[in-house]
Amino acid sequence: MPGICTKAVLASLDRVNHAWGGNGRAEVGRCPGMELRMREGHHGTGPGTITPDGCAVELYARLTAGTEPDIIAAAVPVGAHILELGCGAGRVTRPLLERGFTVTAVDESPEMLRRVRGARTICSPIEDLDLGETFDVVMLASFLVHTGDAEVRRGLLRTCARHVAQDGCVLIQREGADYHVNLPRERVDPAGYTVRVLSAEPVGDGVNAVHTEYVFPDVTWTQTFRSRPMTTEQFEEALAEADLKVDRYLTKDRMWARAAREGAH
Ligand SMILES: C[S@@+](CC[C@H](N)C(=O)[O-])C[C@H]1O[C@@H](n2cnc3c(N)ncnc32)[C@H](O)[C@@H]1O
Repeated sequence: MPGICTKAVLASLDRVNHAWGGNGRAEVGRCPGMELRMREGHHGTGPGTITPDGCAVELYARLTAGTEPDIIAAAVPVGAHILELGCGAGRVTRPLLERGFTVTAVDESPEMLRRVRGARTICSPIEDLDLGETFDVVMLASFLVHTGDAEVRRGLLRTCARHVAQDGCVLIQREGADYHVNLPRERVDPAGYTVRVLSAEPVGDGVNAVHTEYVFPDVTWTQTFRSRPMTTEQFEEALAEADLKVDRYLTKDRMWARAAREGAH
């Protein structure tokens, strides 16, 4: 499957502060001929390439898919074409392809995209994506909607609205209500690794610096990122700004929402 790298990568990331000093801990991924800078407040440690938002490529290549593919498959038409925004190494892409969906996978990290098999890949910041086509389903998972930068969040949601077919839907994964409290907490995955959310410290403007670690028997990765907690009301207001409206929540915890263009259904 062909991969493309949009010119917008560099332009967009020029807006992003170079917050990681290149101290030799890890290599920062780049699109060919383009410089990728760390997003402000985001960093990661551990072996291999670290993406601008602090994710470790080798880590995401190891993580298993949980219930996400089933939640998605139950909410969209059989065989739909899904635009997956922030696909990473294809952890969720792979099971979606196995279920018979077609996937166009977008990420700003070329190293992540290199791991994706069986899908068309596009290297671009999500907020600048404009493919001139629409999809049955647009998916913005991995809590990206909680980005600390409100302008980036608007851009992400506008991209969702721009690329969803008139009768299509947008699937968004949000943080759980207690994501920033009762810390530290951990989850031991059946695959044998432990995920810990260690702390969430306010850095101003309603945004927290969240510290996480992923401990495997042979290696540990960490990620620090900026996240803005949002109540359900604030989440729905953010969608409304992009002319999107929730038609239903897919899970009891309301972490997965299905939305459509305002007035579409
Ligand atoms: C936490 S990882 C999750 C990857 C995948 N969704 C999964 O669940 O395994 C977030 C991914 O989104 C990408 N990403 C984050 N913000 C982005 C943005 N604004 N534009 C493009 N890619 C972005 C990162 O490069 C990374 O690969």
